Amino acid sequence: MEDKQAAWERLRQLREEIAYHDRRYYELDQPVIADSEYDRLFRELLDLERLFPDLVVSDSPSQRVGGAPLEKFETVQHRHAMLSLENVFAEGELRDFEERLSRFLKDAPRFDYVAEPKMDGLAVELVYENGLFVLGSTRGDGRIGENITRNLRTIAAIPRRLQGEDPPRLLEVRGEVFMDRAGFHKLNEERGNAGEPLFANPRNAAAGSLRQLDSRLTARRPLDFYPYGISDPSQLGCATQLELLGQLSALGFKVNPLARFCPSLAEVVGHYRHLLAMRDGLDYEIDGMVVKVNSFGLQERLGNKARTPRWAVACKFPACQATTRLVAVDFQVGRTGAVTPVAILEPVAIGGVTVSRATLHNEEEVRRKDLRLGDMVLVQRAGDVIPEIVQAIADLRTGSEIPVAMPGLCPACGHVLVREEGEAALRCVNAHCPAQRLRSLIHFTGKSGMDIEGLGRKVMAQLFAEKLVTDLPDIYALTQETLEQLEGWAAKSAENGVSAIAASKNVSLARFLSALGIRHVGEVTAGLLEERFQTLEKLMAASREELLSVEGIGEQVAGSISDYFGDPAVLNMLHRLRELGVEPSRANVEKTELPLSGVVVVFTGTLAAFSRDEAKEIVKKLGGQVASSLNRKVTHLICGDKPGSKLKKAEELGVVVLDEQGFQQFIS
Ligand code: IVH
Repeated sequence: MEDKQAAWERLRQLREEIAYHDRRYYELDQPVIADSEYDRLFRELLDLERLFPDLVVSDSPSQRVGGAPLEKFETVQHRHAMLSLENVFAEGELRDFEERLSRFLKDAPRFDYVAEPKMDGLAVELVYENGLFVLGSTRGDGRIGENITRNLRTIAAIPRRLQGEDPPRLLEVRGEVFMDRAGFHKLNEERGNAGEPLFANPRNAAAGSLRQLDSRLTARRPLDFYPYGISDPSQLGCATQLELLGQLSALGFKVNPLARFCPSLAEVVGHYRHLLAMRDGLDYEIDGMVVKVNSFGLQERLGNKARTPRWAVACKFPACQATTRLVAVDFQVGRTGAVTPVAILEPVAIGGVTVSRATLHNEEEVRRKDLRLGDMVLVQRAGDVIPEIVQAIADLRTGSEIPVAMPGLCPACGHVLVREEGEAALRCVNAHCPAQRLRSLIHFTGKSGMDIEGLGRKVMAQLFAEKLVTDLPDIYALTQETLEQLEGWAAKSAENGVSAIAASKNVSLARFLSALGIRHVGEVTAGLLEERFQTLEKLMAASREELLSVEGIGEQVAGSISDYFGDPAVLNMLHRLRELGVEPSRANVEKTELPLSGVVVVFTGTLAAFSRDEAKEIVKKLGGQVASSLNRKVTHLICGDKPGSKLKKAEELGVVVLDEQGFQQFIS
């Protein structure tokens, strides 16, 4: 009884909270929590209502869909209700879905499905009469939406007239209006420049654009459309979802090419993994996959619940946004002296990773987003990208938040910071600033520099703190004995470290130049310089005019290179590097023509015929690279006995998987 009392109270809270967030999301296009957090509230409500069915009240959010229509548009009643979808969050729950189907339709031996990307946009209904687009509306509360016909007419992907000789008398097409990432970023950039508030994500941007009362404004927004259904299959007389998508395409709609026919649940799961792996690379956002029973006959028999059909579910992807609190702002000094503000956040889990820091880029960005210490903020992380703050949620401010102030002095060395003309960054111009030094060292050994394995960020910080490495040549003077004695090091790691350092001595000129971190000389420019000058000596002897004659090199770059090589301290350092055996030259480029050049492998499990170290050596000798974990650059996974979780991940990423025999063939 007490339980029930508590459930009643909690349900009341949840209803209130959800109603508030529904209004923020559906009517104001300004959510104050991430979708994943909303889903969690909703799920808690559904779970409680399942436990106590008699506590379900008629105005529970479980009994309706979305928001009430805005007052400013005329309302439209949908002939057939526009439903919502039940969410599932794990592959296991997909099996539950199939089990429910089988239980409901006892006689159906098996099901086939269509699995489609779940577009993260706005659901609309388009009514065609005798082939002409006559009415378009938002989903609204599912029964009654807003008439946005004029706005929808501005979207090129929505045909005004259906193709074909014999159009259906009535056709009600449902689909998603969305904005692609490029369009979204461009729009936000323009809004930022005009001092207008930014949209949190493409979905909000699409929704805000569709809700313009002045359709000329909508017309300027880069909106797109994919159809995914019709209100009543008899309007086209087709028997399956697959057939329907084909017919929609024949009628002139662009249909999402990532929709798949899946003859069994195993293929559905496979497509889910496939979509998840390609998600970040798509030029529009998807937040999951929708699985539909393919047969309209079975769909009809399965029917609907209050707000969702029984024949479809949405498999949601792990979230990429969450809300949390901005606790502090740190200022980091980069290798060029640029001071970057970094947000320190109350730790929050986003898509399975705990996020406690986010980049803020520069002062301009902090101002534009009007961030204040203590703010609740929306944080976003996608793939391997550094997390960033999307926006502060100004409506949740209490008045005690403190604007972020930029420092006047370098937090590392105390030197006065300057802002050079035309630059966004504040800069420490002290040539001896220890923070800049350490960053330069980290850059030198890092991936876009010499790429010395084992000399990552942490190790370099340790070597710097121990004063063993204070400039570049010190790296090449390190010995196994020295490294061995450091905390966290052992004989083996020290040996590996020293041999990785030695191996980097024969480096291509381009890589070496990019590792030096000369201002305005990145990997591309370094490549141009190598192409033209071949050796370091020739480059150092080049006049400004000679530099300028290289296509792709302008005043700023040429000036920076001349300044760099004109500095006696630099010349001294390069001289020491040479004495220690560092010989950058174009001749070292040959490496890239080796049999395994371009190949990046990861090992998992134990090989029978090779030790892991030997196998790695072989790959490297043949010009390949060895990585320790899977990422987008990895091309092959070599799988020995008892492989770990990497195998599954590799399959998801579409990496080629070789067993030991395959590996043997590969290297012979
Ligand atoms: S089918 C009755 N297919 O997801 C089921 N919906 O939460 C109707 N959505 O309102 C929906 N992509 O806005 C379906 N390929 C897709 C979808 C899709 C996105 C959205 C749609 C719907 C919401 C349901």
